[in-house]
Amino acid sequence: MANILVTQHIGDEGVQKLCEAGHAVTYRDETEPMTPDELQTAVLDVDGLVCLLTDRVDTAVLNAAANLKMIANVAVGYDNIDLAAATERGILVSNTPDVLTETTADHAFALLLAIARRIPEADTFMRAGKYDKFEMFPPLLGLDVYGKTLGIVGLGRIGTAVARRGALGFGMKVLYTANSRKMAVEQELNAARATLPELLRQSDFVSINVPLTPETRHLFTLETLRQMKPTACLINTARGPIVKEDDLLTALREKTIWGAALDVFEAEPQMTSGLAQHHERLVVAPHLGSATGDTRQKMVNTAVKNLLVGLAGQKPPDVLNTEIADQANE
Ligand code: DGY
Repeated sequence: MANILVTQHIGDEGVQKLCEAGHAVTYRDETEPMTPDELQTAVLDVDGLVCLLTDRVDTAVLNAAANLKMIANVAVGYDNIDLAAATERGILVSNTPDVLTETTADHAFALLLAIARRIPEADTFMRAGKYDKFEMFPPLLGLDVYGKTLGIVGLGRIGTAVARRGALGFGMKVLYTANSRKMAVEQELNAARATLPELLRQSDFVSINVPLTPETRHLFTLETLRQMKPTACLINTARGPIVKEDDLLTALREKTIWGAALDVFEAEPQMTSGLAQHHERLVVAPHLGSATGDTRQKMVNTAVKNLLVGLAGQKPPDVLNTEIADQANE
């Protein structure tokens, strides 16, 4: 039997599975993360941790958790966890890939269409009773999507799913950045690998799909945004700090780019106050990429499964530090 801490609300189904497996589960059924001090205290006797992307599992937490064997993050992104420090301490870490890929890609595309056709602005316009006549060239003219160029910054699982929607559904030409060429995707979608400057210069829509790492933090500054077409839109469903929000605001105000759609923010849940006040050609959502009932439940189930397998001394299917799992199973 292991002591498991579930740091925040994940619903009963996942907690029940952990209990049924015979573990002692402390379920903190709250929707706010703990403070760093609270988390450090809460992990003192814990063998297994189920956490969300808003829980910062840093060296202070790992040092406090002397018994910790496994962390199951209920998210595909794991920038909230110091993976290197966990690996040094022999702690397994898993995430929840695959189950959220299509849902997150749907959301990225929903934002792309919403910004291109100015859906939130149109909604506000209607509700304000401003639609008093049909005009040939109304104030809310949008952008075409069909047949345009879609630049995917980071052609991983979600980036590929966004590219597929663009190429197969909207006849878009796909450019992508990635550490290596993705031959299968190039063949399937007629996609082409480009350098970031090339991609920015040519794309009508730029979708950010890279993970947050020291290299991608503030990848999009004013300098980067200035390389985009003045008629282009930026869509970010990855992580907020990849875009320097103040610079994006400047770019929107100065019409350096046409528009932006953001699902993630630099200092979530806050967003730069100027952005909240900027309504024109800016769509914002509160980190809803994977937020459908089915997908969120699948993410919980995936995290729980990983944890149960890891605590049973086997290799969790979505382990991130495979070297630890392989060592343990040698
Ligand atoms: C993730 O899983 O990393 C998303 O940002 C939240 O679903």
